[in-house]
Amino acid sequence: MNQLILGDNLEIMRKMDSESIDLIYLDPPFFSNRNYEVIWGDKGEVRSFEDRWSGGVDHYIAWLKERVAEMHRLLKPTGSIYLHCDWHADAYIRVFILDKLFGENNFRNKITWKRATTHNDSKQGAKHFGRVCDYIFLYNKDYRLAKFNTIFEDYTKEYIEASYNKIDSKTGQHFKASDLSAAKPGGDTYYEWNGKFPPKNRYWAYSKDNMQKFEDEGRIYYSTTGKPYLKHFIEDMPGVSIDDLWLNCNFKTKSERIGYPTQKPEALMTRVIKSASNEGDTVFDPFVGGGTTVVVADKLKRNWIGIDQSVQAVKVSEMRLNNEQNLFSAPFSVTLHRYDYDTLRYKDAFEFEKFIVEQFGGLANIKQRSDLGLDGKTREGIPIQVKRSDNIGRNVIDNFHSALMRYDKALYERNKADSLPIGFIIAFSFGKGAVQEVARLKNEENVTIKLVNVEDIIPIAKKPRLTVKINDLDSPSNKRGSGGVSLREIEFIAIGESDAGVEFYSWDFEYNEEEKKFKASIMIDKEGRQQHKFKPGTHSIAVKAVDNEGLEAIEVVKVKVNGVVERG
Ligand SMILES: C[S@@+](CC[C@H](N)C(=O)[O-])C[C@H]1O[C@@H](n2cnc3c(N)ncnc32)[C@H](O)[C@@H]1O
Repeated sequence: MNQLILGDNLEIMRKMDSESIDLIYLDPPFFSNRNYEVIWGDKGEVRSFEDRWSGGVDHYIAWLKERVAEMHRLLKPTGSIYLHCDWHADAYIRVFILDKLFGENNFRNKITWKRATTHNDSKQGAKHFGRVCDYIFLYNKDYRLAKFNTIFEDYTKEYIEASYNKIDSKTGQHFKASDLSAAKPGGDTYYEWNGKFPPKNRYWAYSKDNMQKFEDEGRIYYSTTGKPYLKHFIEDMPGVSIDDLWLNCNFKTKSERIGYPTQKPEALMTRVIKSASNEGDTVFDPFVGGGTTVVVADKLKRNWIGIDQSVQAVKVSEMRLNNEQNLFSAPFSVTLHRYDYDTLRYKDAFEFEKFIVEQFGGLANIKQRSDLGLDGKTREGIPIQVKRSDNIGRNVIDNFHSALMRYDKALYERNKADSLPIGFIIAFSFGKGAVQEVARLKNEENVTIKLVNVEDIIPIAKKPRLTVKINDLDSPSNKRGSGGVSLREIEFIAIGESDAGVEFYSWDFEYNEEEKKFKASIMIDKEGRQQHKFKPGTHSIAVKAVDNEGLEAIEVVKVKVNGVVERG
């Protein structure tokens, strides 16, 4: 399953399987100016940031090297890594990290990406040229086995005008003409064509049959002297294969920018992902930030994993994915440090059972419906039942007990004889009747059933509380929107409270109440204050408060705007 995971990538990577990943792209914090480096400002980021900065460049390189070593282990033999950096540490990264871990032989490219068009340093008196490029190293795990897809770019207008400068009189298509004579003979290549033999000491490049085929397809162009040329139409060409200077992969639209400083353009990630992976492959970004890599991987039908230590980064990535995904998209999971009771309680039952069994260290049933209501077993084979409810009653214990006897009588008897648990029941809480019955079974029948609270397995926290105030900013001089529709301006103030501290708010000004799908129009709003203009009609507005644990509360408000639609 595609996954977003909150945490330090080093710890998480250590638990991941070796040789499981096809492509890794990493855009780690650069070894640059201290303040500039803080992107999200939340606890997770500050902790990791202080970690990295307690020493100079050697410390930074050691910090990164430890992580890249794990990435090397995770890559399949056919895999590749793209490491994004800038002038501050590129030389150290290449020599001390990549060459050491991957080997010089596996160096493929140092890509220069022009990320900005201008830079004001020189205007401020800097005695150097503007620094407008980042560098991306491409290394293979093993260059002999690595996957690589050549990427083609559309021809530029200038190129077409210079090289495809002839126009077909019938179709109007641009074409380039290549000589149809050749220096070497090859079968049936000396014959008269259009009243001419090939030039002196030369042959035709194709047999007479092929020549006739080109003629029939309208693909032969004759010069004024009657010399034949083959037409190459621009539409039939794949484009220009790209080199290691990447100039045209910046943000395509203003709306692509979410509003955090180190966001990379989707066009850049499209090149990276297409070049070193295919559909169904797994792409991994251990410094996922606002999720550009995983959003593009998702669009390109790759499987993906993204990690970030910042709760904000993970939540922004989640919202971006939700905004992009449609009915046919693969589902994904988000792993935080704490879980919200309501979200767990109302999760899909099968998903919940599977998740809890796995968090308990057991193996979940693959079948959605098991015959006896058992949801999995421990690694030692002891059955587990998960209940997505509170205050479990005595009847659950009775049913579980008889199910276990029917499920595997021999196992039941063995565990009983060894004084081992015959089974585990996991639930949010257990009633008095259930607890008493478990005690009775133990005392009177030497049968041990273990009752486990969900909270003992995963940390549960309370999600934020959220209220919204609405101020009508309407005035008689209200502006006219496009098409002469009168718009009404309304202010929303969201007030969130959370023990963990509210990190930010997100807004959806066209919330679809039927589908209950939050599609953020404003993703990061630290203040929780927005003004928005509405056309006449009824509107649903949803706001989310996200706290430092990544838990969120959502509030939906409705506004009804009266007004006349003016025409003309
Ligand atoms: C330069 S940003 C990545 C931006 C991303 N490429 C994008 O387009 O949005 C680097 C990210 O690395 C994260 N980070 C830093 N140290 C980390 C660590 N040890 N584990 C996981 N994430 C980390 C930061 O929180 C930040 O979001």
